Amino acid sequence: MEFRIVESLDRAEVEAIAVPVAEDATTCDPRFASLAAPVFSSGDLPVKPYETLLVPGTPKVIFVGISKAGDSETWRRAAATVVRKVKNVRRLAFAGGDVRAVVEGSLIGGFSVEAYKSTSNRQTVDTIVFAGADPSAIKQGTVIGESMNWARSLINEPSNRKPPRIIAERARYMAAAAGLSFDVLDERAIRDLKMGALLGVGQGSDEPPRLVVLKYLGKPGSSKLLAFVGKGVTFDTGGISLKPADGMEKMKYDMAGGATAMAALRTLALFQAPVNCMAVVPLAENMPSGRAQRPGDVVESMSGKTIEIINTDAEGRLILADALAYARRMGATHLIDLATLTGAARVALGPFRVGVMGNHQSFIDSFLAAAKRAGEKMWQMPMDDEYRDLIKSTVADVANSGGRFAGMITAAKFLQEFVGDTPWVHLDIASTAWNDDDKPYLPKGPSGIAMRSLVELALTSYEQ
Ligand code: BES
Ligand code: MN
Ligand code: ZN
Repeated sequence: MEFRIVESLDRAEVEAIAVPVAEDATTCDPRFASLAAPVFSSGDLPVKPYETLLVPGTPKVIFVGISKAGDSETWRRAAATVVRKVKNVRRLAFAGGDVRAVVEGSLIGGFSVEAYKSTSNRQTVDTIVFAGADPSAIKQGTVIGESMNWARSLINEPSNRKPPRIIAERARYMAAAAGLSFDVLDERAIRDLKMGALLGVGQGSDEPPRLVVLKYLGKPGSSKLLAFVGKGVTFDTGGISLKPADGMEKMKYDMAGGATAMAALRTLALFQAPVNCMAVVPLAENMPSGRAQRPGDVVESMSGKTIEIINTDAEGRLILADALAYARRMGATHLIDLATLTGAARVALGPFRVGVMGNHQSFIDSFLAAAKRAGEKMWQMPMDDEYRDLIKSTVADVANSGGRFAGMITAAKFLQEFVGDTPWVHLDIASTAWNDDDKPYLPKGPSGIAMRSLVELALTSYEQ
């Protein structure tokens, strides 16, 4: 998709023009008032937010409802709705709005989940025209939208096409194009570092684990290093604690955190942001086999802490334990991990908000403020000491599962064991990384959630 700036929409030579209409408006952009007047007087306008009304003609006019909030998310959704709705339109003009958000929304809405259909008659908008926009808004919006879509296409990829070694190769390719430094640890390097938790999860699969490290140093004089640690389970069968068959195909998205962490690095590098950041992505496939780890096994993590495996399906926290310890060893001063970690996140918050936990309230507050600006809905969960009692083990330092209470929180308490006193935020994106239903502004499938918040946080002077 391309974005162009023209002086006036009159000579834009487009097949359609999108005209935003506020939800309680009685008029719209004066350039389109003469066309809109009869539609208002007929009672067909205004339309509700994210609804559209098409007036045929050359060009066609698509009125799109805008919510009163008028924030960037409003514009993102409006643009995505238009792009998803219009048919047989290649060149589209968008009249007004927050240009960066409109660009982001157009790219988000234009994402196709039909990667492997051999016949597709889907025809999308390929050029969007603005009258008199700021070129840097277009550039930033493009980087954000394309980075989100880079993550989304990797998340949407079927697991037979993305074992750990392939994701590592995709990351290598992206890093080279974006100007990021890239490093990958293979099974041997992982063993040499004594990452017993990551090895344990990967040992049931014929595809060995990897650990990808991307780095971008945009502020060499600073000692701050922000690390994004993303869960990269390329498929989660549950292992010996096998998941039920129903819906298991969706577990291809269990690497969403990892893909999103890498996409955030891509964005920051292309922005040439004055920050130091790193993505650490442990990659493993959780399979049952004659070599798979068992419930009751004890593994030793890189940090030296021992872990009793109560449930092999609580694998995300295991690979993150070693990745968090590794990020600290590499000099991370601030940690944010993101993971499709628990079904309990779905129970607690539904598909609407990301669960946020952490160990330093001021750092959590900085993050929540960034998420708000990014238009991504999140909610903080408590982290009282009592929850730690639920993951006591009789034989090891900690157990990887805490039974039926507060599953989202006990998973975070487990991770907390591996971050020491480094300021840390944990995001449980299990319920928000995948949309189960089509929305007017979003197709069913991978959402790319949390990437914009990570970028927004990195761009602000976050608190300790
Ligand atoms: N990947 C799953 C969590 C998940 C569930 C993500 C549904 C997306 C949708 C994770 O590895 C998992 O299986 N968690 C277990 C933990 C339990 C065994 C302590 C869960 O939530 O059931
Ligand atoms: Mn699992
Ligand atoms: Zn999982």
